[in-house]
Amino acid sequence: MSRSPSVSTETVLIASTIGVLTILGLYWYQRKRKNAVPTKWEPVGKVKNLFIYPLKSGHRIELETAICTEYGIKMPKSGPSYQFRDRSFLVYKEDDNEFRTARQYTNMIFIKIAPHPTKEDHFTLDAPRMPTLTVRIPSLKTTPQGEITFHKGEKIFTLDCGDKAAKWISNYILGSNSGLRLGFHDTDHRRNICNSHKKYLGVYPRFRNQSIGMYTDFTSYLVINQASVDDLNNRIPETNITALNFRPNILVEGENATPYSEDNWNWVKIGDAILYLAKPCTRCVFTTIDPETGIKSESNEPIKTLKKYRMLKDVKNIELDGSLPVMGNNMGLEKGGVVSVGDVVYVGRN
Ligand SMILES: *[C@@H]1O[C@H](CO)[C@@H](O)[C@H](O)[C@H]1NC(C)=O
Ligand SMILES: *[C@@H]1O[C@H](CO)[C@@H](O)[C@H](O)[C@H]1NC(C)=O
Repeated sequence: MSRSPSVSTETVLIASTIGVLTILGLYWYQRKRKNAVPTKWEPVGKVKNLFIYPLKSGHRIELETAICTEYGIKMPKSGPSYQFRDRSFLVYKEDDNEFRTARQYTNMIFIKIAPHPTKEDHFTLDAPRMPTLTVRIPSLKTTPQGEITFHKGEKIFTLDCGDKAAKWISNYILGSNSGLRLGFHDTDHRRNICNSHKKYLGVYPRFRNQSIGMYTDFTSYLVINQASVDDLNNRIPETNITALNFRPNILVEGENATPYSEDNWNWVKIGDAILYLAKPCTRCVFTTIDPETGIKSESNEPIKTLKKYRMLKDVKNIELDGSLPVMGNNMGLEKGGVVSVGDVVYVGRN
């Protein structure tokens, strides 16, 4: 009788140890399973549009077919356009090499960089009321390696596109002969997660060095669900919000792609390409610039309305990102492949 309390203490100890280990094991298993590439795929819709933005903050080019690479969407044609990838050009300040976007100069959204139709290794620069400029794509053979300063002081590789491009860009954006320059990323120089983004690693388990693209803010892909944009637009009667406000690479539409179901699209398969959700995309003032007119919304839409119902909910995420609303998925590439408008979009279930 006198021993029974100590026996039961032992039993309790053993039982609770087994319990704790089981819970830890299950947690580990769930986490591993959630982060593994799924084997089951369900169709949710189709690719409605594909967009590439060769210049960060610049004009989109709509594609029928694109190649999904680790560094984002690439144009499919052979020849010089093989270099044309999403966000591979960027504007930076001449005096301190700091990057510039449409957050500072809204007229940047009309600058169109495209492959030259005939000249190998050249691209064209176009913008309203500006002459077309043909520029050679810089390479390490012709141009010394440079470095631009990005968000939060991150340093990223760049190759300057030369004086003529700098003058053209400064003329168009500033109305001056100098001040800004144009940089290009050749993808040969890997960009790794910078110090200020390391804090995301524990919270977003699939986020990794290979997720981040070239001059993209967070990841090499932005996937948007048309139904979510339609739902948002219905909440803002006075303004016409379209998916273009959010500058997606892949726009998905379909019966089973219900509004905000993309929050659970941890894995997406289109053709052979497989993308993983790295992080929900938090949205800034850029989305309030009308993609057709370049005019900033006076009522701060769609951010004002998004803030009413699409705020980050998880405390951990809020600590990382601040109090910001979400629209779309920042995705990384698991497996490359060709994607086309009309392709079925599958979501993986683990
Ligand atoms: C990213 O790459 C750098 C440089 O190779 C490495 O030190 C770092 O551990 C990598 N980070 C992750 C999360 O894999
Ligand atoms: C809203 O934008 C879409 C796409 O540009 C256009 O087709 C439609 O006519 C616009 N609607 C209004 C009310 O302006």
